[in-house]
Amino acid sequence: MARAEAPGGVRQTLADREFKQLAEFIYAECGIKLPQAKKTMLEARLHKRLRELDMPDYASYCQYLFSPLGQERELISLIDVVTTNTTEFFREPKHFEVLCAKVLPGHMRRVGPAQPLRLWSAGCSTGEEPYTLAMVLSEHASQTPGFRFSILATDISTRVLERAMRGIYPAERADCISMDLKKRYMLRGKNRCSGLVRFTRDVRALIDFQRMNFMEEFSFQKRMHVIFCRNVIIYFDRQTQHGLLSRFCQCLESGGHLFIGHSESITGMDLPLEQVAPTVYRRV
Ligand SMILES: C[S@@+](CC[C@H](N)C(=O)[O-])C[C@H]1O[C@@H](n2cnc3c(N)ncnc32)[C@H](O)[C@@H]1O
Repeated sequence: MARAEAPGGVRQTLADREFKQLAEFIYAECGIKLPQAKKTMLEARLHKRLRELDMPDYASYCQYLFSPLGQERELISLIDVVTTNTTEFFREPKHFEVLCAKVLPGHMRRVGPAQPLRLWSAGCSTGEEPYTLAMVLSEHASQTPGFRFSILATDISTRVLERAMRGIYPAERADCISMDLKKRYMLRGKNRCSGLVRFTRDVRALIDFQRMNFMEEFSFQKRMHVIFCRNVIIYFDRQTQHGLLSRFCQCLESGGHLFIGHSESITGMDLPLEQVAPTVYRRV
């Protein structure tokens, strides 16, 4: 097959055989399903990586990836390449209304101030979801005597976690955050940082960021009261979704809540969950 040479010296075509090999590997490592229709997307995303590694073509990349050295050094970068990290502050805003109106008051009635609410943002990307939760829960705490909480935020991609931990964003990304919340929880950059905003040290300290791959074993000393896992399982096939959601249920306190993305569904899955609002479920 004749291949066109790209300006950077990388051959432009990812052969079907190489795509299949990569797709199988990615599925086994991180559960992400890449159907044939995603070949162009993978090819385009890998193109940059090939240039960074100064590799002439995709065949050389595969050879490297599947070598012992590649397995040790390249896996994290490949994961960064294949994951889709789209996110925003107050994404799917109804969820935060349900959290404040139903879930938090219910927690205080059932558990009371004895135990802090344990919340997990699973698949947190660059941090917009856990920071939104940190602001919402802080607001609730300021109005509810005795309410305390902890937030764990995890992702498979080290690249997005590094950004999340910094808590720095272009100011326009925070446009959807009310001025009141911005004043209380964010700082505006000055001089060479103008145009940027950063969460205060106190807010950053509320979130424990950790790397976690859902395809590996996970467990916690104490079960969670709330799990947000939104816009993550959409990239998995049904069997992987079911396996992961079952494990989430094992990590949830009875009466705890699971939030999934609005375009995701658990319909037809045998899980110990009952629906309390659109895409919000209670562990029975
Ligand atoms: C589209 S983002 C969703 C971010 C946020 N939850 C939201 O709804 O805005 C999906 C995230 O899931 C993460 N992810 C994908 N596969 C994963 C896996 N196997 N284990 C853990 N995280 C994974 C990706 O790295 C990505 O940051």
